[in-house]
Amino acid sequence: MLLSLRLDAVPAHVGQTQIGIRIKGKTNALCLDPTQSGSDSFFAPLTKELHSQANPQDGLTLFEDLMMEPIDQSARLKILHRAVESPHPRQDQFFRRREVSRVAGDHAGVANLPQHVFDRAEIAHPVVDDRDHCRDGTRGLRYTSTMNATLQNWLTGQIETLKAENLYKVPKILETPAGGRVRMNGKEVVNLSSNNYLGLANHPKVREAALRAIDQWGVGAGAVRWIGGTMSVHEELENRLAKFKHTEAVLVFTGGFTANSGCIPAVLSNEDVVISDELNHASIIDGVRLSSAKYKKSEGYVYAHKDMEQLESILRATQSFAKRMIITDGVFSMDGDIAPLPDIAALAEQYDAFVMVDDAHASGVLGKNGAGTASHFNLYGRVDIQLGTLSKALGVIGGYIAGSAALKDWLINRGRPYLFSTAHPPMVAAALIAALDVMENDPTPMERLWANTRWWKENLAAQGFDTMGSETPITPVYVGDEAAAQQMERLLWEEGVYALSIVYPTVGRGKARLRTMPSAAHTQEDLEFALQAFVRVREKLGTSALA
Ligand SMILES: Cc1ncc(COP(=O)(O)O)c(C=O)c1O
Repeated sequence: MLLSLRLDAVPAHVGQTQIGIRIKGKTNALCLDPTQSGSDSFFAPLTKELHSQANPQDGLTLFEDLMMEPIDQSARLKILHRAVESPHPRQDQFFRRREVSRVAGDHAGVANLPQHVFDRAEIAHPVVDDRDHCRDGTRGLRYTSTMNATLQNWLTGQIETLKAENLYKVPKILETPAGGRVRMNGKEVVNLSSNNYLGLANHPKVREAALRAIDQWGVGAGAVRWIGGTMSVHEELENRLAKFKHTEAVLVFTGGFTANSGCIPAVLSNEDVVISDELNHASIIDGVRLSSAKYKKSEGYVYAHKDMEQLESILRATQSFAKRMIITDGVFSMDGDIAPLPDIAALAEQYDAFVMVDDAHASGVLGKNGAGTASHFNLYGRVDIQLGTLSKALGVIGGYIAGSAALKDWLINRGRPYLFSTAHPPMVAAALIAALDVMENDPTPMERLWANTRWWKENLAAQGFDTMGSETPITPVYVGDEAAAQQMERLLWEEGVYALSIVYPTVGRGKARLRTMPSAAHTQEDLEFALQAFVRVREKLGTSALA
């Protein structure tokens, strides 16, 4: 049986009855007024009519027509109710979201129910109408929750614009653990688009540690860190990270993004200025925007990428500010080059500024055992604030700020994502401790990462691809035009290689590229296979596609 109905009462103040419809294991729902239960004599002909449609699509159209009739709202709801209650003989066929939501959206009785009724009904919204996304084979009527028409129209208009400009993203679905070769959207591919640099995301020791932690601690921390969500395993992780980074203290946030948005505004006031590299990551930019400091490019506080002369002239021009922060990616996430940190540190010292470096892509990649850019350049003690992620090379999730004990203390008190967001599950902290153990004691993953990186870059260059001067595993293959980059991604996919095209707004307009990432998880065969695919795809596209 394809449909089964479940009637649940919803809170009295809502005054509605929620009807959950299970279709092949997925719950969809409508909310109806139970006081309007109809008589069979009214509904029998309607049900018969709906069922007599050979094609369920026609049944839906009929249903839609009925909804358009000038009948009163309660009758409309009754019809809706009955249409759902009476499965069409071929109702396992897929109804497209657009049509279903149009029906629901056009009728205020359904559309205007409070959002929490839909939430309670666990309605998936928005439901994607592309068959490719029904990965579990689920088909059937899908009622989306509907929303304010002005907002809905704005959203669909924006999405159409993104599509027209080749900027629209649809995530592919990974069906195996992260690794060099994976299955995505039902296809075996070499994955060149993962930040799992060292292969730790599925490392046996890291997995085991997570499982043991579940036995010991359960699955959730239960609270925000300062309210009662700090377990000893969280503390242990921070102490381990501080040793690893050679800093006095470390504070962990739930992500690298939140570490930026927690730290940057907390250490700045409206008497301060932030001086940024123009290619800094979005999470830095957002963190800076949350602060009350001056930061705008239009006001002259952003320097051209790695331009130390410009940085110095900004430093000269900003001496009246109370505090000055120079902030940069350690490794630039879309270009793969390394910040000139020794020069930045020297300028900061000369002009009494302080330095924050975002080492998301240097953690586990550069420096002793992967300790980051400060270690890579031997700048211990000369970089004031270091951000690291625990989500990329360390293979799990999280971000941290490394610096002085006073900085940690201040962020515990003023770092908003720390103050207002629940702590990591304990298994995350335990898995990260195990990942650090691997990084500190087993040089093989880093050696393998760099051997693969060298091979990949040399061979791409030998084949005439432009890797944009990248110095780290992040290896962009420059294309320029957005449509050409997306076409290249599609053709590579057909060849069994997943290399994501990166387009505006992640990079500037007209600076599209394929961002490839060799990792310790790739074998030599994986990389050779991928290289041949790149060569074949370029032949298909013609060299003009690679401007
Ligand atoms: C430079 C940089 N900083 C911060 C982040 C955010 O890190 P996370 O994924 O841990 O939130 C990223 C992630 O893409 C990044 O590339």
